[in-house]
Amino acid sequence: MAGLEDLLVEELKAIGAEDIQPGLRVVNCKGDKTFRYRANLELRTGIRVLVQMGQFRANNEQTMYNRLRDIDWSPWLKKDGNLWIDASSQSDRYSNSVYLSQLFKDAIVDQFRDKTGERPSVSKEDADMTFYLHVGRDNTVTVSLNSSGDSLHRRGYRRRTGGAPINEVLAAGLLGLTGYDGSVPFVDPMCGSGTIVAEAAMIATRQAPGLRREFGFQRWPDFDAGLWSSVRQDALNRIQKPEHPIVGSDIDELTLNLAKISLERAGLLRHVELRNADFADLQAPRPVKEEDGGLLVTNPPYEVRLKTGDITTFYAQIGDTLKQNWKGYTAWIISGNQDAVKSVGLRTSRKIPMMNGPIEVRFCRYDLYEGTKKEKKKEE
Ligand SMILES: C[S@@+](CC[C@H](N)C(=O)[O-])C[C@H]1O[C@@H](n2cnc3c(N)ncnc32)[C@H](O)[C@@H]1O
Repeated sequence: MAGLEDLLVEELKAIGAEDIQPGLRVVNCKGDKTFRYRANLELRTGIRVLVQMGQFRANNEQTMYNRLRDIDWSPWLKKDGNLWIDASSQSDRYSNSVYLSQLFKDAIVDQFRDKTGERPSVSKEDADMTFYLHVGRDNTVTVSLNSSGDSLHRRGYRRRTGGAPINEVLAAGLLGLTGYDGSVPFVDPMCGSGTIVAEAAMIATRQAPGLRREFGFQRWPDFDAGLWSSVRQDALNRIQKPEHPIVGSDIDELTLNLAKISLERAGLLRHVELRNADFADLQAPRPVKEEDGGLLVTNPPYEVRLKTGDITTFYAQIGDTLKQNWKGYTAWIISGNQDAVKSVGLRTSRKIPMMNGPIEVRFCRYDLYEGTKKEKKKEE
């Protein structure tokens, strides 16, 4: 995801990736099958783990088709299996990704038919194998197998959400950008359906995000069930109790109930305290040692998708509450409404531009000093 590449590099290093090369919205690296299984299970800021099968230049469709057919796809196709193809392009020469996936499908299906006399079936919903084709600006074609299957943001704990949920990968990325590692109290005072709080609880408990879902590689012909089971067991063995409070709160009881259901599904409910409160009335959990402070990360309504009376007054109230009730904390707010953010009226110590789906957002940090190191009531 754009803006999270550096975090992904750190995550990849931690699970033993080699030859790591970050790009824009992609990080290339090398690793074996154990690494592939761990990457799918453990990465918090990755969207999908692709296994590259070939890379070539193609300035026209015929060359592309021929080169795609030259690659031996047979080890990856089961006789009764279903396949699916996704494609994307940054090239002006190939702007229609549906056409590209059709061309790729033809190359694979024609090769399979020539070898076996049969036609593999194509189905998105029940795909055993998902192939991925990407064309770069310079017509470089990269073809891969998608070992994740469904996007990794689908952790498997969220079924229903409130009005404007944040993507799980973005939530984990925001927490990564704050440096959160579970060593201070954590609060999301407008937690909605609980995505940020669930990701925080997973970080604090060292719980791998993919423990409750399946992956594409589990249906591959080379699937190693024994290896997968030991990779999962290692991840389960690493789970620990959080050392500091993790609190999710929301003014809306119904939405909070969705957070409860998600946290329960993720096996995290016992580690999180849920409160039904207006942010203005919420008490900050105190750290074990006063000097440790605490971390508040929240995604308030920003009017694009949720309506709240006067958004400027609402954000000014957020600023007042932070100043009065959250001394000693570091607060981070993600918002797509820059005018509203200005009315928070506290000095930002960092501002990170990002995208929340199609919406341009800023992730702003406020250091809410104790005592005399005052917050300047001035926007930078
Ligand atoms: C954008 S949503 C948060 C979505 C959340 N990050 C998720 O992934 O589901 C904003 C939330 O702020 C809550 N909210 C609005 N005003 C509030 C207030 N004064 N105090 C606490 N929560 C409030 C809304 O009920 C809503 O659930």
